[in-house]
Amino acid sequence: MLHTTSRRRFLQQVGAASVLTAASWSRVLGANENLRLASVGTGGKGWDDLVHISASPKVSVVALCDIDESEPFLGRAATKFKSAKTFTDWRKLLDQPKEFDAISVSTPDHMHAPVALPAMALGKHVFCQKPLTHTVFEARQMRLAAKKYGVVTQMGNQIQSHEAYRTAVKLVRDGTIGKVKEVHSWQAGKMGWLLADDRPKDADPVPEKVHWDNWLGVAPERPYKAKLYHSFNWRGWQDFSNGQLGDFGCHILDPVFMALSLTSPTSIRAEGSVPNREVWYKASVVSYEFPGTDFTANKTLKLTWYDGEGKTPAPEKLGLAANVKLPGSGSLLIGEKGSLLIPHVAMPKLLPEETFKGTKIETVAAVDHYIGWADACRGEGKTTSNFDYASGLTEAVLLGTVAIRVPGETLKWDAAALKVTNSPTADALLKKPYRKGWEPAWV
Ligand SMILES: NC(=O)c1ccc[n+]([C@@H]2O[C@H](COP(=O)([O-])OP(=O)(O)OC[C@H]3O[C@@H](n4cnc5c(N)ncnc54)[C@H](O)[C@@H]3O)[C@@H](O)[C@H]2O)c1
Repeated sequence: MLHTTSRRRFLQQVGAASVLTAASWSRVLGANENLRLASVGTGGKGWDDLVHISASPKVSVVALCDIDESEPFLGRAATKFKSAKTFTDWRKLLDQPKEFDAISVSTPDHMHAPVALPAMALGKHVFCQKPLTHTVFEARQMRLAAKKYGVVTQMGNQIQSHEAYRTAVKLVRDGTIGKVKEVHSWQAGKMGWLLADDRPKDADPVPEKVHWDNWLGVAPERPYKAKLYHSFNWRGWQDFSNGQLGDFGCHILDPVFMALSLTSPTSIRAEGSVPNREVWYKASVVSYEFPGTDFTANKTLKLTWYDGEGKTPAPEKLGLAANVKLPGSGSLLIGEKGSLLIPHVAMPKLLPEETFKGTKIETVAAVDHYIGWADACRGEGKTTSNFDYASGLTEAVLLGTVAIRVPGETLKWDAAALKVTNSPTADALLKKPYRKGWEPAWV
């Protein structure tokens, strides 16, 4: 029998967290029971997530939610998973908590936390795309919620489970390049989604199958404009995304964080700024300082992020020979005995080649990032990009995008207090306003 709690009552209950505990709706799955999956955002990367997670014979797709009912989005998913219920409003899906055990959230970034937080409060296991959230405050909330409700979580930075990144992490942790002195990471690819310099003055009719108000969700209202936002090109806009660093930071910086056991940065400084409060930048350089760890050479570690089309750092600037060809995106970890180049995505390379001529790189086998999560939800194994880890990585990435909006200032970060201590302007950017009636349920 269906659970009939009204949406209003559900939201009231989620708001009053003491009334509704995770245990209310979560259930322990038996060895032969399938994980019942609900997917929110079924087009774009969401389709890929859905196909990968449902490849497990122990997963049944029971619900599909997308704001666009047309073929590449909800339409295609509904054709493949014929028995799944369909929704165009994620709040109506969450109104039926007895119907599913776990949820994947593959919407644009501004809707990750608003969907995932109440799902966790219902005891639902969550797979959520990268970056985990749209703001630093939301990232912290995701960590707190996962802990409070005891659910199994995984961020969708699937390259973490690829043999290339796993091998790179092992090489560093084995001490192959010695302790690490500094790190450089970059993404020199095109920002094909940066299609405007400012908000357009005109609007287009909303397509019949698109639920535009639900797409906006928590974001401030704005009229629909074809191609500029839905789909994919929302990445260019501050209301929905965090630009190139937000898009790629949780991939490219992930093996660096994992290998070096990095925690929160203590300071962040950016060069390169946004043109206004609407769109993201064309190029940036962000300098982070982190506390040192067992894997770093010094008490602090400097990590520099570079992005912008064609702006691969010069090899000489990274202490490499001028003829070393760097990939369009990746990281270079400079150690006491040599350097490790981690292309995004290809097998890592030890440099200089002469130094490491006889060194055999043992490949660490890949694991399945998606099915690994589904199995962990069923009590088998553990996830590696759980929100305890992924929230820290996301906080660091998003702090860089805060700094980009306050360029030329060295921001001091107090992670425990969740505060930029020396810039009220930057501190205010850790949070954002939410549309009235759409305020998320905080922990
Ligand atoms: N891990 C990766 O390699 C990778 C690659 C691409 C994108 N992503 C991430 O995946 C997410 C989606 O990116 P994309 O490129 O697929 O975007 P997209 O706009 O192409 O697709 C988003 C999908 O979500 C749907 N949607 C939008 N708002 C929704 C809402 N409120 N409720 C339900 N459905 C909604 C859209 O209709 C569409 O089907 C982003 O967080 C992005 O950063 C990750």
